[in-house]
Amino acid sequence: MNTVKIGIIGVGNMGSAHARNILDGKVPGMELTALCDHNPERLKPFAKVKAFGTAEDLIAGDTVDAVLVATPHYDHTTLGIATLEAGKHLLVEKPISVHKADCERLITAHKDPKVIFAAMFNQRTDPHYTKLRSLIQDGELGEIRRVVWTITDWFRTFSYYASGGWRATWKGEGGGVLLNQCPHQLDLWQWLFGMPQSLRAFCGIGRYHDIEVEDDVTCYMEYGNGCRGVFMTTTGEAPGTNRLEITGERGKVVVEPAEHGGIRFIRNEVAMTEWSKTTEGGFTKPSTWNVEIPVKGGNGPQHVGILKNFANAILKGEELIAPAAEGIRSVELANAMLYSGFTDATVELPLDGAAYEKKLKELIANSKFEKKVEEKLASDFK
Ligand SMILES: NC(=O)c1ccc[n+]([C@@H]2O[C@H](COP(=O)([O-])OP(=O)(O)OC[C@H]3O[C@@H](n4cnc5c(N)ncnc54)[C@H](O)[C@@H]3O)[C@@H](O)[C@H]2O)c1
Repeated sequence: MNTVKIGIIGVGNMGSAHARNILDGKVPGMELTALCDHNPERLKPFAKVKAFGTAEDLIAGDTVDAVLVATPHYDHTTLGIATLEAGKHLLVEKPISVHKADCERLITAHKDPKVIFAAMFNQRTDPHYTKLRSLIQDGELGEIRRVVWTITDWFRTFSYYASGGWRATWKGEGGGVLLNQCPHQLDLWQWLFGMPQSLRAFCGIGRYHDIEVEDDVTCYMEYGNGCRGVFMTTTGEAPGTNRLEITGERGKVVVEPAEHGGIRFIRNEVAMTEWSKTTEGGFTKPSTWNVEIPVKGGNGPQHVGILKNFANAILKGEELIAPAAEGIRSVELANAMLYSGFTDATVELPLDGAAYEKKLKELIANSKFEKKVEEKLASDFK
């Protein structure tokens, strides 16, 4: 095979951006051969690409070798399973499923190692995070003691929430900021620091918007090695902050957007606990060095980078940047935070996926929320 023939299911904000990237030739070795969307209006800008009336028909035919699922979240599981069972390669948008039990169902359907199964965790291509990951893995920071991520710059308006009937509902989306915006940071969190042993979260349901799901979360985590973490997010604050601070034995790293400084590493000359145990003085800290961490390439290739990697994995056996099976961890973190909020209790991980699924079904069954909808694409916003 020289070219991967790909079909996209769900041609909304994200699916149409993926379609344009492929049609613009930004993904060598990938050809867009099929599209499917419930809403025919969404297909009009792509009249030259073969359109399918149902996702099942797109998956079944010879028109595609691979499928990109960019629908609302619950369909990631059903359409993902159908794609894998048809023996087609699958790239699924984040989150890979809404809840842990569905993630397990989806991952279990991936039986053939020759079938490539990846997830659209585009922020894994950002050189700030790849650099940080190598600093951690190379032991440059020493043992990690504390992580604090304030990711409150996912600002969204009332109009955004009204732009799709599925958005910000338990039935349509399965959650709010944790399921829609933060899968990226939750994925990076587990990719960089692994999974905590337990967490306690406080979730503001509709704190800033007229929605039935969470738009504000503060979570405290504990790790087996004694490391502590705090994760804070919201879609309600502007201008908001994106600041990741890691305290390791050998110093402190702060990662912020390039315009706020990029990566800064202040390195302890002597590891902090060793210094604390061996120093006569009561107040002196270890001497520090400011270490320059050069980061090239802005925020990296992002979505196009994941698309290229997916094509290269199929055509040349390239290692995946974001194997979809790893996507269960960000979903588990999101589910555990919501479960902790609902039960007012600390949640031990691994999360009981069946208990969370039951809770989510109750939320759906008991929902009295009346959603206002004014369908729009991002490009329609004034
Ligand atoms: N990776 C990223 O940076 C990123 C950014 C935005 C959205 N997303 C993800 O992309 C997905 C879609 O989000 P969006 O903002 O594009 O939503 P959207 O509402 O703009 O688009 C979804 C589209 O899917 C269509 N659809 C729904 N069910 C379908 C089905 N069964 N078969 C065919 N078409 C169907 C809808 O008609 C709609 O056009 C979500 O998983 C979201 O989390 C990812």
